[in-house]
Amino acid sequence: MRNMTETELTEVVLERYSNTPDERLRTVLQSLIRHLHAFVRDVRLTESEWNTGIEFLTRTGQISDNKRQEMILLSDNLGVSALVNMVSAGVKEGATESTVLGPFYVPGSPERKWGESVLLRDGDDTPLVIHGRVVDGNGEPVPDATIEIWQTDANGMYDIQDKSQPEDNLRGWYRAKPDGAFLMKTIRPTSYPIPTDGPVGELLRATARSPFRPAHLHAIVSAPGFRKLTTHLFDAEDPYLDSDVVFAVKSSLIREFRRNDSPEAAEKFGVRGPFWELANDFVLTRNG
Ligand code: BEZ
Ligand code: FE
Repeated sequence: MRNMTETELTEVVLERYSNTPDERLRTVLQSLIRHLHAFVRDVRLTESEWNTGIEFLTRTGQISDNKRQEMILLSDNLGVSALVNMVSAGVKEGATESTVLGPFYVPGSPERKWGESVLLRDGDDTPLVIHGRVVDGNGEPVPDATIEIWQTDANGMYDIQDKSQPEDNLRGWYRAKPDGAFLMKTIRPTSYPIPTDGPVGELLRATARSPFRPAHLHAIVSAPGFRKLTTHLFDAEDPYLDSDVVFAVKSSLIREFRRNDSPEAAEKFGVRGPFWELANDFVLTRNG
């Protein structure tokens, strides 16, 4: 077909994709094409603007590697990761809600023993003790659960961003006991700015947006027969809870980190002196 109108062009492109054998792929691609074409018509996009966009995406890909995931960061900053999480989470009433994975997850982090700290560097940081159980929707223990955590250090950087930190600092996974109980040690997380030295930083500056995320630790909780839970636990006292740059805060994930000065409690949890305490159960959703 030649000499098409704007809307005929969209219809012709859709038709060319109509033989895609995989039905889901066809649905997704045709919807993407429809929305992209509508966007171009809506803003009357110029060729120079489209080239700027392509060049931006090219640089976003080029700066990405196994330690820096600028593409995920872009998705997070556009609210797409949070929206995908919303439309696909399917969490049962009462189960712990999920939220975005983020770009700083590193698969294959080391196992930490019961009550071991994920803080690998020296320092007199006040420990944060996190204890609780992994349970199902009826409060019954989930057997064979693992809990993987990762977070930034006190300087607001993850180990993979900061060469001064030991490898795997503030990340690792714990095995829960048969009754679902776990005991993890870390430090209280801090709010931090996401990386602004790449294309996503340019986007933030061009749009006058703050780069800050509220203090949180990440967790992935897994167990056979249950849906894998990717979530955060946020600090209730954080000033950025309502302005998270990646739109990932859910009220149900906000927690009080309580100061505990009791020497008996310190002894029970194997820490020296006062500590921060978080009592938190993870409630998993069964598969199917
Ligand atoms: C994070 O919490 O690690 C994160 C999530 C999304 C974008 C940037 C960082
Ligand atoms: Fe984070």
